[in-house]
This record gives sequence, structure tokens and C-alpha cells, in this order.
Amino acid sequence: MDAIDVIRAKRDGHTLTDEQVDWVIDAYTRGAVGDEQMAALLMAIVFRGMETSELARWTTAMIDSGERMQLADLGRPTADKHSTGGVGDKITLPLAPLVAACGVAVPQLSGRGLGHTGGTLDKLESIPGWRADVSHADYLAQLRSVGAVVCAAGETLAPADKKLYALRDVTGTVESIPLIASSIMSKKIAEGAGALVLDVKVGSGAFMKTVEQATELARTMVGIGTEAGVRTVALVTAMDRPLGRSAGNAVEVAEAVLVLAGGGPADVVELTVRLAAEMLAAAGVSDVDPGTVLSSGKAMDSWRAMIAAQGGDPDASLPVAREQHVVPAPATGRLTRLDAYGVGVAAWRLGAGRARKQDPVSVTAGVTWLAGLGDEVREGEPLLVLHTDDADRVPRALNALESAIGVDTDDELLPLIVDRIAAS
Ligand code: URA
Repeated sequence: MDAIDVIRAKRDGHTLTDEQVDWVIDAYTRGAVGDEQMAALLMAIVFRGMETSELARWTTAMIDSGERMQLADLGRPTADKHSTGGVGDKITLPLAPLVAACGVAVPQLSGRGLGHTGGTLDKLESIPGWRADVSHADYLAQLRSVGAVVCAAGETLAPADKKLYALRDVTGTVESIPLIASSIMSKKIAEGAGALVLDVKVGSGAFMKTVEQATELARTMVGIGTEAGVRTVALVTAMDRPLGRSAGNAVEVAEAVLVLAGGGPADVVELTVRLAAEMLAAAGVSDVDPGTVLSSGKAMDSWRAMIAAQGGDPDASLPVAREQHVVPAPATGRLTRLDAYGVGVAAWRLGAGRARKQDPVSVTAGVTWLAGLGDEVREGEPLLVLHTDDADRVPRALNALESAIGVDTDDELLPLIVDRIAAS
């Protein structure tokens, strides 16, 4: 087999054979195919796309580059959720313990944030003592005892994706539906959960800017999951505005704890309960109402157990930024725009996110807002608060927010849940 033949085949619009796919993924993972050749192939895929069967094989080859976890003997059904990433998306924090409290185990191998979207591990690391690294034995033990684990993925989970994603990042080949779908699904299928619910974000703060693109990505991922024997469902949800009232790390954990305590912003509660219901249904559990379990306080008990099992202190105070800069409302009227991308970039510039994989993040940095869309605001009264340990970061964060706030504008907002995509 020759890399040049594979590149030429895709360049000229042919469907790669199973043998070509298996060989090129394996050879690239081993280092026998170089970055320059894989970059050319990836660019050809960006322009030519992939057939359904070709994409299924490509994803399987990525899964087979590492280990596929076996969770069948846990003694209870398993389900996971994956979000394609957004601003203020702290849903995993209340969702994982809620689903565990409903009797379905949640094995979540998670990543860190990159760019303006946050990462679940970065948020959890603001809890004093909490560790993202968990050994395989502890991971299984925690799934048995607590029913939920959110931790860092090890080196053996889809190693082909680690190399491919790093290469895509520097070659302008991230924005391709088959490449995004195979990247996400290879990791999620390798994780071993029996059911998977995808939260595909759409809007300015998401990868997918239009409902059409988000729906196509959702359909593609549901197809891959179903073909691989994982019961997969997707919700397409709004990311034209940020979720809840906070974007950052510790500030999002604080909001998640409010939700677990029975309060919190209505959109975070609604999406958490809906995703939990989808996970339970996909896992075959039909007699438990996640809304009732959330109100009962059992999800809070699971959260405390989940945090403590990874060394965290659920009673410790969360760290608070040294500087708080208040942004006043620009006019009196109804808040009609709070742009997700603007808020995400502001939080990132305050230190909540990273530009490169190896950069550290500030656990205290972030943005909180005191009114939600549709609420009445008064000119000059506090609307947003910028949290940072470094006051020099504030002016650039304010720049990002320049056109992100609107009062009595005619912006058209997406419904929180835009669509539901299941296997056909
Ligand atoms: N997240 C991933 O894991 N992979 C992509 O390609 C895009 C988002």
C-alpha cells in the first residue's frame, strides 16, 4: 500500500477501500505515514467528503488504533453525553451525578477546553483537591460505587485521533463534518458506554454556525454510533447565547452546584433534565423521572460522592478572582442579545481558556451576568461581571463584548432545543 495512491484516490473523488482506510490510519498512528502526507489526505477529505460506509470504516480504524473499554459487567446500564462545545456549557457537572442517581452509570472520559469553549476538566479542577487523572482500576471501582466518573482520557483511547486532531489544528482541516464526526465518535465509542446522547451546539459560540450544518453533523454522528452498536441520539441545541449565567471555571462549578441544590438558571435545569431523560431512555430505563430525582437531592449526594472519590472536597469554598469589573447595561429595556461568541472570547481573554493545548488556565477567571435574555435591564445598572486575577486583561475582554450586548434589538433567537435526531 502506498500513501500517494490513497491521497490521489481521495483527491480525484473516489471512495477509499476498507484496506486503504485501515492501512492509512494504522500507518499514520505508527509513524510510517508522515504528517505531510496525512495533511494532504485530510485536505482532500475536507473538499471531497466521505461516503457513509467509508466514514464508518475510518471511525472503526481510529477506535482500533487503541483500546475499546469493556463495561458490560458493571451490573447496570451505561450512558454518556457529549457536547460539541459551547460557552457556559457546564451541563455535564449536574448531569453525570443526576443520571447516576437514576441508576445508569456514566463513564465520561473528557477533554480540556481549547479556544473560547470551556473544558469540563478545567472547570472541575477549580474544586480544591480534585484530580482529573484516575487509574483504570479506580475508574471501574468508582463507576461501581458512585455510578459516575468524569476524568481525563488516557493515552490508549483512540491514539489516532490525538495525532490527527493536532495535525488538523495546524493545517486548516478542522472544519469538516466527516472529520469532526469521526474524531468525536471514535473516542466516545472506545469509551465503552452502551448508549450515547449527543448535544450538538449551533450558533455563534459553537463550531456549527447554522442549523443545517449542526443537523448534518448530528445525523452523521448518530449514523456512526448506531452502526457501531451504540444506541445514539442527538439534540441540536442553541449556542447563539451562552448557557446559564456564567462562563469560566469556578464560576460554572458554583452554578452547577446551585442546580444540584434545586435552583439555578432555568435553561441549565431544562437542558440537564432533558438530556438526562434522553440518556435514561437510550439506556433502557423508562420508570425514573430525572426531574423528581433532581428535586429529591439524590443527585447532590451523587455529586458529593463523585467529587470526593477523585480527591476533591465538596464542602471547600471555590476560589474567587482578585478583581471584579462590573459592566453596566447600555440602555433601559429588554435584554435581547448576549452573544455566545463575544462572552466566550471575553472569558477566554480573562484567563479562563487556553490558546494552545499546553497553556495553563486560571480557575477563577470568567464572566457572570445578572440578567438573562428577555429580562428588563436599566441603563447604568450592573449587567455583567468580569472575574480575573490580572486587571490588565480587562480591556481586551471588554473589546470582545463590544457588540455582544443588545437591548430592545430585533435579534432572532433559536429555541433552546432546536431538534432531536434519532436513528432512522
Ligand atoms: N471535538 C473533537 O473531539 N474533535 C473535533 O474534530 C472537533 C471537536
